[in-house]
Amino acid sequence: MPSQIITNIKQLVNVRKQSHLLRGAELAELPVIDNAYLIIEDGIIAEYGKMQDMQHATHNTHHTIDVSGQFILPAWCDSHTHIVFAGSRENEFVNKIEGLSYAEIAAKGGGILNSAKKLSENSEDELFNLAWKRLEEVSKLGTGAIEIKSGYGLSVEGELKMLRVIKKLKEKSSLSIKSTFLGAHTYPLTFKENHEGYIDLIINEMLPVIAKEKLADYIDVFCETGFFTPEETETICRAAMQYGLKPKLHVNQLNSIGGIEAGIKLKALSLDHLETLSPAEINALSNNPPLLEDEWKGLCTLLPTAAFFLRLPMQPARQLIDSGAAIALASDYNPGSSPSGNMNFVVALSCIQMKMLPEEAINAATINGAYAMEVDNEVGSITVGKKANLIFTKPIPSLAYIPYAFGSNLIDKVMISGEFI
Ligand code: NIG
Ligand code: FE
Repeated sequence: MPSQIITNIKQLVNVRKQSHLLRGAELAELPVIDNAYLIIEDGIIAEYGKMQDMQHATHNTHHTIDVSGQFILPAWCDSHTHIVFAGSRENEFVNKIEGLSYAEIAAKGGGILNSAKKLSENSEDELFNLAWKRLEEVSKLGTGAIEIKSGYGLSVEGELKMLRVIKKLKEKSSLSIKSTFLGAHTYPLTFKENHEGYIDLIINEMLPVIAKEKLADYIDVFCETGFFTPEETETICRAAMQYGLKPKLHVNQLNSIGGIEAGIKLKALSLDHLETLSPAEINALSNNPPLLEDEWKGLCTLLPTAAFFLRLPMQPARQLIDSGAAIALASDYNPGSSPSGNMNFVVALSCIQMKMLPEEAINAATINGAYAMEVDNEVGSITVGKKANLIFTKPIPSLAYIPYAFGSNLIDKVMISGEFI
């Protein structure tokens, strides 16, 4: 691949010599270079700086792209999605408009069970093609790294089918992809009255194969009233941790039932959702002071489009940041609670409805998102040696214009590993 030099960048955003996980007030610090150039070699960021410092020789030996007026950001790092699914659920969307709640729909066999039924009727190839289209869709919207969960299989065969689809996506896509096993998404109907039996299946039938075939990087559990208890969450996570899978958990979406204490005890990499938080839980998530003896170094991953879509209270991002927590933003792209993987809208919503500053939101959706899937050494900031996964904006007046003009498509081009997609 020829070396490329991008010139006259109005602002090069999130430029870091070295990156680290951002907590609390650090989230508002977004380093930028005005009027910048950027050199890419073999798909990797090789050099950057101010236009006035660019060497003339460099200019002549590289393929030059002039982007006057445009901003360049690291591509979004979407650390929580469920993009392998078989069909949409807009009928439930209408049911909700008519008055049913998410929990009521789930109790009637809708929700996750509805998606599991649809998934069982689709082959691995069909699921791959559907997920591939979604991957293409979100990459055009600026996503360059993504975590994908299983959880609509709910049987040995179904869960392995989903994870194999994710493995194939990893092999074929140029995006950075991480895989999470979410067999404990809900109890399948056959185990409705036999929770122990299903947990046994997860631990003794699914996990050993997943480990053997290296099908997952993380373990997830939906810890929620009517789904999995904190004790069940702990049992499943401890078994998965034996195989090296770190927990990334769904907690406190609808109810506060002890998922956060369990997650902190398990040293979860991230605790996700967090629509329903008590002041004590906010303190625990901020290590300030710890709810338990354990210090917790993980992230709080907020999914504002899920709260928006289900008409739940927005996550208390402001309180979390102000008390020192590390926040990541993700789309939760799935057919039930967030049928959108548009990270631009996630960023806008976090500013509009959760009062995150544009700088905080961009950091949370890039570098902290990268930490939430442990790909911080390859993506998430403009750093020499990281992949050239970049968003080229259309000409815009300022960075704050991105979340402000929430309904406009402000992306001109997206580059993944040095290639425009
Ligand atoms: O993250 N809450 C649990 N799981 C998904 C929704 C799954 C579904 O409704 O299909 C979520 O919101
Ligand atoms: Fe989710």
